[in-house]
Amino acid sequence: MEHISNLILSHFRSHKISKLSLDGRPVVVFGKNGTGKTNILEAVSLFSPGRGLRRATAEDITRNPEAIGWKIEGTVKNRVSEYEVVISSENGESRRLFLDGKRTSVMRLSQILRIVWLVPSMDRIWIEGSSGRRQFLDRLTLSYFPEHAETSLSYEKAMRERNRLLKEKICNDHWYNALEIEMAKSAVSIQKARLEAIKYLSEAQNNLTGKFPKAELLLDDPDQTIITDEEEAIQVLKNSRPSDMIMGRTSVGPHKSDLQAIYEDKLTLAKDCSTGEQKAILISIILANAKSLAKISKVSPIVLLDEVSAHLDKERQAALYDEICGLGVQAWMTGTGPELFSELKNKAQFIEVSTIDGISELSISN
Ligand SMILES: Nc1ncnc2c1ncn2[C@@H]1O[C@H](COP(=O)(O)OP(=O)(O)O)[C@@H](O)[C@H]1O
Ligand SMILES: [Mg+2]
Repeated sequence: MEHISNLILSHFRSHKISKLSLDGRPVVVFGKNGTGKTNILEAVSLFSPGRGLRRATAEDITRNPEAIGWKIEGTVKNRVSEYEVVISSENGESRRLFLDGKRTSVMRLSQILRIVWLVPSMDRIWIEGSSGRRQFLDRLTLSYFPEHAETSLSYEKAMRERNRLLKEKICNDHWYNALEIEMAKSAVSIQKARLEAIKYLSEAQNNLTGKFPKAELLLDDPDQTIITDEEEAIQVLKNSRPSDMIMGRTSVGPHKSDLQAIYEDKLTLAKDCSTGEQKAILISIILANAKSLAKISKVSPIVLLDEVSAHLDKERQAALYDEICGLGVQAWMTGTGPELFSELKNKAQFIEVSTIDGISELSISN
């Protein structure tokens, strides 16, 4: 079972030097507000492609006031091997990754580790604009298909270029054709990967305990049906050139898609559910994600649950811990006090975080 067995954070936000030694059980990180709990989860999230759970830049992370850069050292263990991972940034430069001493891309890490998370800022995705939901869906999709990150980048790059032409009212067919072929190719991969991810999530939700509400997920598009055919996507882009030129931007494509969730018990859209129900839906999706990843990618994911337990009644807390222990994944869970996790007893490792002069201090209690 994949897990992080050693973790050292150096000059990482509130952590000057924090060392953790872990045995693969779920990890409970507790302590008062602002002590540096989420910072630890953020460090773990950087073991996956993308900007991590705060979408922060390398510069944001460097510990102030020193601002000399930061380093995460981790040992990743699975059934057969052990890997030494170093992720670091110097003087605000973008992060670098070393695997067993060799510089490599974060993509390489996804062969040995997958990370999924739920953080409080996601609570509002069902009631806010579509971009948060798209981001959420893309994060889920990426956990199954790491290459989704690169496809999305190529799509955005080509679209930015097309938008520039549109804005500047440039009418050069060759230029548009080339960009639109590129966009259509990426767009189709993006949508296919998203649809596939939704399929995996639905299947896995059926296998969760009844304590978590099943949510039907739908990829939704206000103006068009989802295009999964490259020729058709090229045609749609071509046809939309005149109207896109008036607006100065691309009006169709995967950057317009939305994720809908229907709370199945009540046949209600997630946006109309109570705050508690919305949270439960998110948990259900993340658990389903973890469950199917273990099956599909053959790599059991690390699950980061920031401040999740505080929102659940005792019964759902117990159900959550049962699911996590059943999955056998290294789940990192934060909360203000250990009592939130009392049901876990010795099935988890407990780490208390406090601060002394603005510097995080850790103590491992079992
Ligand atoms: N770049 C940074 N340098 C120093 N301290 C930081 C930096 N970024 C965040 N912090 C500090 O980290 C603390 C918040 O840590 P966080 O992990 O979010 O706390 P919590 O335990 O509530 O999850 C704050 O006190 C904040 O000032
Ligand atoms: Mg926090």
